[in-house]
Amino acid sequence: MNETIPYFDLKAQIKPLRSEIDAAIARTIDNCTFCLGPDTEQFEKDFAKFCGADFAIGFNSGTAALHVAMLLLNVGPGDEVITTPFTFVATSWAISYVGGKPVYVDIDDGTMNLDPQLVRRAITNKTKVIMPVHLYGQPFDVDKILEICRENKVQLVEDSAQAHGAKYNGKTIGTFGDISCFSFYPGKNLGAMGEGGELVTNNPVYARRAKSLREHGSTLRYYHAEVGYNYRMEGIQGAVLGVKLPHLKKWTVERQRVAMRYGELLKDTPLQLPVEAGFAESVWHLFVVRHPRRDDLKSFLEANGVGCALHYPLPLHLQKCYLNLGHGVGSYPVAEKSARECLSLPIYPELKDSQIQRVSTVIHKFFDS
Ligand SMILES: Cc1ncc(COP(=O)(O)O)c(C=O)c1O
Repeated sequence: MNETIPYFDLKAQIKPLRSEIDAAIARTIDNCTFCLGPDTEQFEKDFAKFCGADFAIGFNSGTAALHVAMLLLNVGPGDEVITTPFTFVATSWAISYVGGKPVYVDIDDGTMNLDPQLVRRAITNKTKVIMPVHLYGQPFDVDKILEICRENKVQLVEDSAQAHGAKYNGKTIGTFGDISCFSFYPGKNLGAMGEGGELVTNNPVYARRAKSLREHGSTLRYYHAEVGYNYRMEGIQGAVLGVKLPHLKKWTVERQRVAMRYGELLKDTPLQLPVEAGFAESVWHLFVVRHPRRDDLKSFLEANGVGCALHYPLPLHLQKCYLNLGHGVGSYPVAEKSARECLSLPIYPELKDSQIQRVSTVIHKFFDS
């Protein structure tokens, strides 16, 4: 009987770090620094440095950071934000939370990131922000999007939730936009032990207001300058992230190894393999292949002990919560095809070569049978 290969194995990541993590959590408990606190502050400094940014502000989720990004850029009712229909829904939530309108644009069939040409066509006099996603860990076409932003005087928010440390033309993502937002959901390339997020910016005014907004609209305790939120990062999460961050570069190299190996082993199959653009150094949060017989392949892999997942089975414009936007089937054909055909294979730093080979062998068997 062949070993089961889980889609994702967080235990393998935690095991070698366990004593360090235990000590970091114990320190938080001993010091009772549960909300923000010194470890969170240190992590903010370290993460800002990692991104090459002036400021990083810790949040209790990536969704909260995105919400605050929209508030900082004064997005409100009547404003349009151009974004992708093929992402996790939280990208669009941020726009909806402030009463803005998500304006979807279709993705590029190769990279599955926003197609800059279509972004240009979607600009109106109501467009306030463009918010693309560095999907699956691969940077979107930053220069082309920035050019559109400058020409039309609109701002850029990077949804970097899946792309910690990814590079665009050799430069780490996180400071190309006015604001960049990260998620530390446990399954992310850099994951907390619970929820977490970060807002990254070079703008001191945004940084100051973001700190206030995450803490009840307050910089002085019990004095509230504006309506705020309880979006603080927990002390335990800051402590855990501080232990994990020094390992991130090494983990990324391992993810890149896995992706390259899949590329070699699957190139002769009928699968549409992920494409890395010339400007991109992906951190391979996910390895997503596409095929019209996706559902059959998924069942076959699972029956053979290989875990897999769908990112994402239904694009945002067809979700019940966004039907009010009035986009029917066929509105964004590439996103819709990707949703029908996508299949995420196991990818994590600890995945062994023998396991990659087995996943590939099962896929070859599926197409040979
Ligand atoms: C692209 C994208 N945006 C936003 C989020 C939201 O982050 P969080 O789950 O930390 O709220 C996620 C993560 O799930 C994501 O993948």
